[in-house]
Amino acid sequence: MKIIFWNWYKYESPKTLGQRKVRYLKLSLGIETSCDDTSVALVDENGVVHCQLMASQVSGHLPFGGVVPEVASRLHYEALLPLIDQLLGQAQKSWSDVSLLAVSSRPGLVGSLLVGVVTAKTLALGLRKELIGVNHIHGHIFSPFLRSIEEADSQNLQFPYLSLVVSGGHTHLYLVESYTRVLELGKTRDDAAGEAFDKFSNLLRLGFPGGPLVDRFSKGGDRKAYNFPRAMLKRPGYEFSFSGLKASAMRLIQEIPAPIEDSQRSELCASFQEAICDVLIHQLSKASRNFSIRQVSISGGVSANSRLRERAEKWAKEEGVFLKIPEMKYCTDNGSMIAYAGLMQSLSGWKSDQSLSPSPRALTGDFL
Ligand code: KG4
Ligand code: ZN
Repeated sequence: MKIIFWNWYKYESPKTLGQRKVRYLKLSLGIETSCDDTSVALVDENGVVHCQLMASQVSGHLPFGGVVPEVASRLHYEALLPLIDQLLGQAQKSWSDVSLLAVSSRPGLVGSLLVGVVTAKTLALGLRKELIGVNHIHGHIFSPFLRSIEEADSQNLQFPYLSLVVSGGHTHLYLVESYTRVLELGKTRDDAAGEAFDKFSNLLRLGFPGGPLVDRFSKGGDRKAYNFPRAMLKRPGYEFSFSGLKASAMRLIQEIPAPIEDSQRSELCASFQEAICDVLIHQLSKASRNFSIRQVSISGGVSANSRLRERAEKWAKEEGVFLKIPEMKYCTDNGSMIAYAGLMQSLSGWKSDQSLSPSPRALTGDFL
C-alpha cells in the first residue's frame, strides 16, 4: 500500500483554508489491555500521537513478583473508561473527531483482552464508530512510525523493512512489506528476550519488572566478566534461543555465596545483557545482509534497553542502515501503536464487526 502524507494542510484551521480542497486526517482511538498496563491514545494517519495515557499496574502486581491475570483484568476494568474520558479531555477532542476504535484483540491474557474488546465493541455500537481488532504484534511492528507533532516531518521508514520485535512474550524477526503483509523470518524456540531479562532479575532478586532493573544495574559493570552462552549464532536461519542462557545464569548464581555484592551484581547484569544484545544484533545483521534490506526497526519492550539501543545504533551507522527504534514511551505496550496499526489496516480494507472476540494466541498473518 502506498502511504500518502497530507502534510500541507495538516494543522491549518478550516477558516484559513478558504476554498482550498481539504481532506481531514482520520483520528483513531487505540485501546491496549493485552497484559498489565492499560493504555489509550489518539493517533492520526501520519502516525502523529495527539495524546497517549497509561495506567500502570506495577503496584498491583508487585506483591506477587509477576503479573497475576485476574488482578490484571480487574485493574483494566477499573481504569479503562475513566482513562478514555481523560484522553478526550486532555486532547481537547470529542467523539465526533474520532473515526475508528482500534483495540488489541490478540495475543495476550484473555481476561485482560476481553475488557478492551468488550469496551471497544460497546462504544463502537453506541457511538456508531468503525471498529477494528488489532494483532498486538502488529502494533509493535508498526510502532516505529509513531511520532510527536513536532517530529511530523521527520524521515521515516520505507517498506520493505526488517522488524525485530523483542518483548516479554516475543522475539521475532519479520520482513514487513506493507501494513497488510508481514512475513516471519524467525522467532525464539523457547524463552523471549524480555522473559529472559525478567527471569534473570528474579534469580538475582532485583525485583519486577526485570528488564529495566537489569538495564539499570548493568551501568558501569564489566560486560566481559562472565561468558554467558550465545545460542544460534553458528546456525543458518534467523531463530533465537534464550533458555540455555537462563539455565547457565541459574547455575552460576546458585554457586555464588549470598549476599551478592553490588559490583558483582553489576558485572552479572552487564554480561547477561551483552549476551542477549550479541544474539539480537547478529541475527538482525545477517538478515539485513542476506536480504539486502537497509531499512530496519527494533520495537517491543526490550527495545527500551539502553545497551541494545546503543549497539544497534552503532551497527546501523557502520553498515549504512536506516534504523528506527520508537521513542521509549512507544517501546513498551501502548495505545498509540494499536491506534496506528488499526488505522492503517482499516485504510487498507480490513474491518471488524460485533463478532470480534479476544484470543490468547495469534499468528502474524491473523488480523481480526
Ligand atoms: O512490549 P512489552 O511492554 O510487553 C509485551 O508485549 O510483552 O514488553 C515487556 C518486556 C518485559 O519483559 C520487560 O522486562 C522488558 O520488556 N523491558 C526491558 C526494558 N524495558 C522493558 N528489557 C530490557 N531492558 C529494558 N530497559
Ligand atoms: Zn507488547
